[in-house]
Amino acid sequence: MCGIVGAVGINNPREYAINGLKMLEYRGYDSAGIGFLTDKINIFKDIGSPSRLDEILPTTFNTELIIGHTRWATHGTPSKINSHPHLSCNRKITLVHNGVIDNANELRTFLLSQGYTFYSDTDTEVVVNLLEYFYLSSKDMHTSLKLLEDQLEGSYALAIINEDYPDSLFMLKKGSPLMIGKGKGFNLIASDASPMAKYTNEFIDLEDYDFGYISKNEIRIFDKNNNLVNRKSIIKDAESITHDLKGYPHYMLKEIEEIDEVVKRTISIYHEDNEYQFDNKLLKELKEADHVMFLGCGTSYHASLVGGRILENCNNIPTTEYIASEWAYHPVMPSKKPFAILISQSGETADLIHCLKIIKEKNVPTLLITNTAGSTLSRGCTYTVLLHAGVEVSVASTKAYAAQVALLALLSGALNKNDKMVIDLKATIDVINSIKNNLKKHIEKIAEEIKDNEHVFFLGRSFDYFLSLEASLKLKEISYIHSEAYPGGELKHGPIALISEGLPVIIFITDPNTANSMRSNVEEVKSRGAKVYIVSTKSLSKKGDALVVDDYAYFLSGVAISSIAFYLAYYVSLKKGYNVDKPRNLAKSVTVE
Ligand code: F6R
Repeated sequence: MCGIVGAVGINNPREYAINGLKMLEYRGYDSAGIGFLTDKINIFKDIGSPSRLDEILPTTFNTELIIGHTRWATHGTPSKINSHPHLSCNRKITLVHNGVIDNANELRTFLLSQGYTFYSDTDTEVVVNLLEYFYLSSKDMHTSLKLLEDQLEGSYALAIINEDYPDSLFMLKKGSPLMIGKGKGFNLIASDASPMAKYTNEFIDLEDYDFGYISKNEIRIFDKNNNLVNRKSIIKDAESITHDLKGYPHYMLKEIEEIDEVVKRTISIYHEDNEYQFDNKLLKELKEADHVMFLGCGTSYHASLVGGRILENCNNIPTTEYIASEWAYHPVMPSKKPFAILISQSGETADLIHCLKIIKEKNVPTLLITNTAGSTLSRGCTYTVLLHAGVEVSVASTKAYAAQVALLALLSGALNKNDKMVIDLKATIDVINSIKNNLKKHIEKIAEEIKDNEHVFFLGRSFDYFLSLEASLKLKEISYIHSEAYPGGELKHGPIALISEGLPVIIFITDPNTANSMRSNVEEVKSRGAKVYIVSTKSLSKKGDALVVDDYAYFLSGVAISSIAFYLAYYVSLKKGYNVDKPRNLAKSVTVE
């Protein structure tokens, strides 16, 4: 969601802040702003993208201290007044904030009673004024930050300028990501490493309750107990964190086309030298569990449905897949000795962070499957297994989904020492490539035919149903067409009432166990006038099927043919003239509940 950048002592602060915010656009935004210190605090902000800042900022200015922000509205509508940075009442402190302050209303009431005035609807303006309130009495930023931390409930990553400290950029973090980039004669902060990758390869991940400051030559971090700490830095190469379209018109297309490489890489990392490469302790704990519970949101939840079913089929371990935001408010454990697998490409999803807190209290071992090393969830889980899908910039997740399914399949294979899983996975790569090379034009044609419909249906059973869910989510996300995904067997229990003349119904028939029943569903919707598009595998195909792919192990459709779903959503969105990579209202990393 919101993105933060900050710098002390950098050569071209304007360029760093604007370009850095552009790098963070993928997190979602509706407005952007920059604040910097000269002889006073200067603030420039507006609704729209960070490119707008290029127009409203002075072309040159000198400053040692700069902060910037992309806002994704939570408290208050997207507007110039609600965008960040926010100034304290005496205009001597300014800050940017990522997160949500749960007790903002109480704090605002308190500050109003102390004579404070508020100009925006945001929780952030409460934070900056509370900080001013503490600072006016303590005259010391360290004390004030600690007092602030004690009062704030909720999540926050804060970057703060105080006029009285022209050499220091202050920070405070809980629940939202914040990183330091270590430079020579300068230091940086940002929500993730991408804005800083051009300037340094050495980063520090701040932990919850960390606070302190960076100056040109110094980094001072204090922990929850107010002790000065030396957080370990990590080295990341620029290639792994920066974004580059590499000639593609959109990140989404680039990322779909990387799926084959991602699957190859996943196999080679987790099955090297003919051996599965998972932590033995992890495998042992998983085997000892009497139930595996999966938690995820959106696309990651869809991957968990596939992974859970594979795990059950191959290893006889009962599994339950939960939508994280639902489980968090009804946190029942499925058994006496469960193991929890959390799936999150960003590793920062607030709903999962909420679940993790509850799971940890119950002493259940946890594995995080994520694309983001060192993420908040990773720091809290017993084990982390990385996806290595490469940065995913497009808000709609594609290659990360395929990687999640591939990884879960490999984990299942490792648990029962079954090398056939690797053979099956390797075989999907040809299918993925043949879709890329031979079917794209056909998918584009289907996109042209369905793009003006208000509703689209997806049907499938079992693994094909799980893929239908993902296909439907992707289509609604980026083309704003209302779409539904149903298990074929459920059709007659209600949804068939919605099937009408000309309604596009996309049907996956790739699972031999359910193919016959699905063919009956085809007849049912056809006879009610639906325009049917069937995606099938060669051995299950019939004349007239819209897209036919080579056979593969049916439980791997999430890897082998998810690109069909992704291309379809991509082309529909493109043809409707939408911003494919940055769909409305959505954020790449959902850091508020
Ligand atoms: C859809 C999409 C979202 C995410 C969901 C969870 O394309 O990307 O549905 O899957 O917000 O995010 P992560 O995986 O980061 O926890």
